[in-house]
Amino acid sequence: MDKEKKLILSLIQPSAKSFTLGNYIGSVGNWGKLQDEYNCVYGIADLHAITVKQDPVELRKNSLSAYALMLACGIDPEKSVAFFQSHNKCHAELNWILACNTQFGELSRMTQFKDKSAKHPDNINAGLFTYPVLMAADILVYNADLVPVGIDQKQHLELARNVAQRFNYVYGDFFKVPEAYIPKVGAKIMSLTDPTKKMSKSDENQNGCIYVLDDKDTIIRKFKKAVTDSDAEIKFAEGKDGINNLLTIYSVITSKTVEEAEAEFSGKGYGEFKLAVGEVVADKLAPIREEHARLMADKAYLKKCYTEGAMKAQSIAQRTVTKAYRKVGFVDAR
Ligand code: AMP
Ligand code: TRP
Repeated sequence: MDKEKKLILSLIQPSAKSFTLGNYIGSVGNWGKLQDEYNCVYGIADLHAITVKQDPVELRKNSLSAYALMLACGIDPEKSVAFFQSHNKCHAELNWILACNTQFGELSRMTQFKDKSAKHPDNINAGLFTYPVLMAADILVYNADLVPVGIDQKQHLELARNVAQRFNYVYGDFFKVPEAYIPKVGAKIMSLTDPTKKMSKSDENQNGCIYVLDDKDTIIRKFKKAVTDSDAEIKFAEGKDGINNLLTIYSVITSKTVEEAEAEFSGKGYGEFKLAVGEVVADKLAPIREEHARLMADKAYLKKCYTEGAMKAQSIAQRTVTKAYRKVGFVDAR
């Protein structure tokens, strides 16, 4: 760790079908670019994953695949700390201290909790409720300066800031108060079939969601089916959610501005435009899919990476936990 550099932290949950294009554009796709300028800590949020029901065999498989995919998206385990959340017990330890400094009322206001408990009425477990506290622990245990996330995580980040400030007020200055790092374009990629809703792996209509590991044909097929509107202009405008979403995706993937994309497709038809977006996305994701397959065939290398990642993560986090234990008044263990 370079003491001069700020620290970036972000985690992503493992899932059955790999990351979505939304995850990629809003979050994990940006992580690699930050590795030279910042100290980076990136991980797979497997502790968070069990807030919904998981099959243990599937979870283990999906978590390893997510780790390989995180590397394939450009995380260099030599430059960044790349680890599994469950491999660093400090997260769970700080979680408890922060939970005792978080109010029931503020957790009750979390929109993701409300949405998820409506979706899983048979499993509104305590972990689902306290999920944002664990997320605060993930961030504060490394004293992160910046947290790259999509817009849907902004409320959780706000909570982490509040908890840090409250702790600092009660126990004396201790935690760094983290800032969200939200991309200007692409912080909320919408479903291709219902562009008023966020693209999400839990989408009922799977045509709405592109996965980073989808093959080219699947990607093109889904883009061809993307919902647009009844007018014919490829222009970013109010009420044109489908086109706005496609323009956003195109511009982020090609590193062009939305205006440049509009100019490029001026006078062209929606069919041609949708195909072009599909092509650039498929071409961008193909090398990631290949690298993921290569890494998945080398389990020994993956193990070496996540074992070292866990050690590095623990060595940073343990210092924070030891100090926090002292701050709240526990008797020194040594
Ligand atoms: P999750 O899949 O919920 O673990 O999300 C991982 C990261 O991807 C978080 O930073 C989210 O904010 C981000 N994310 C998820 N869905 C989208 C989306 N549709 N558009 C942009 N970012 C997203
Ligand atoms: N809750 C985040 C999500 O679902 C994942 C996450 C867990 C996270 N811990 C984090 C993101 C810490 C940023 C920082 O997207």
